[in-house]
Amino acid sequence: MKDKKIYIAGHRGMVGSAIHRKYASEGYTNIVTRTSGELNLIRQDKVEEFFEKERPQYVVVAAAKVGGILANSIYRAQFLYENLMIESNIIHAAYKYGAEKLLFLGSSCIYPKLAPQPLKEEYLLTSPLEETNEPYAIAKIAGIKLCESYYRQYGSNFISVMPTNLYGPFDNYDLKTSHVMPALIRKFHEAKVNNKEEVEVWGTGTPLREFLYVDDLADACYYVMQQVNAPDLYEKGISQINIGTGEDLTIAELVTIIADVVGFEGKIKYDTSKPDGTPRKLMDISRLHDMGWHHTTGLKEGIGKAYEWFLGNQGKRGKGEE
Ligand SMILES: NC(=O)c1ccc[n+]([C@@H]2O[C@H](COP(=O)([O-])OP(=O)(O)OC[C@H]3O[C@@H](n4cnc5c(N)ncnc54)[C@H](OP(=O)(O)O)[C@@H]3O)[C@@H](O)[C@H]2O)c1
Repeated sequence: MKDKKIYIAGHRGMVGSAIHRKYASEGYTNIVTRTSGELNLIRQDKVEEFFEKERPQYVVVAAAKVGGILANSIYRAQFLYENLMIESNIIHAAYKYGAEKLLFLGSSCIYPKLAPQPLKEEYLLTSPLEETNEPYAIAKIAGIKLCESYYRQYGSNFISVMPTNLYGPFDNYDLKTSHVMPALIRKFHEAKVNNKEEVEVWGTGTPLREFLYVDDLADACYYVMQQVNAPDLYEKGISQINIGTGEDLTIAELVTIIADVVGFEGKIKYDTSKPDGTPRKLMDISRLHDMGWHHTTGLKEGIGKAYEWFLGNQGKRGKGEE
């Protein structure tokens, strides 16, 4: 089992690197990787050549064009085109060259904007999506439906998971393009080292959000790869499995934990003129819990580890707008 050849697409990203660490720590020795410079996954001919040569038995699709709200709303064509190409090329080549199992990673933005909370797997395609990242979400939904359709037509054991907000090592800490958690870690760190008396946080601090440490996500992906097969989803009327903690907290509570971990002792001011976004975003993860998986890293512990990585790697990584 542990000598299976596994291809982790996107192994330098936050998610792909965590999945790579997990498989390596479980004793898998036959892990195949390519950077985007070595293999541009948008190129169908190159992807087919790679699969024909390597013939991986397991495939994890953690490569994607990813970005914050700004990038998503500006580079709409690129987010749709590149993600559709990456997924279609990998999923088709995995089928063509006989991969035994494939795991496709999406995100919670695939769920409709006004879906009830917490978000259940069944809410997929029940009403319109959030406008800003609609192209990205449409591409991810296409990836989910590719996996399901390759199962239905060819019997391929291809499945999809939808993680909640993630954080941890190799995250993007660039303030212009980062998600809320890394942005806050950096902001409070900079306020501390520059002896600032006050940090300003956008919005009211009341929105509720869920966060999962990326190594826990990798653990869940490993668990799902071992335990879950295509019929467990598609024959039960769902197309994907949610991954999260099942617990949310307010941005104000999150800010207090981050200030504490970083050691910032000044004041926190909320700029209520700035937008809050969706009031609540929480995944329903009862299916994953019923399957026997639970997260293990508490929020304060995870933020501590993320901050430690940030301190050792500042400036090493930051996804640009492109
Ligand atoms: N970050 C989150 O909070 C979060 C939450 C839920 C779900 N996810 C999902 O997890 C997946 C990975 O996200 P991430 O945060 O790990 O993103 P990331 O850090 O930006 O990593 C994405 C990786 O994809 C690779 N890639 C992009 N375009 C490529 C191309 N044309 N050819 C080959 N490789 C390409 C890049 O490879 P190189 O480094 O070699 O250029 C990069 O390492 C995405 O599907 C995302 O939706 C993320």
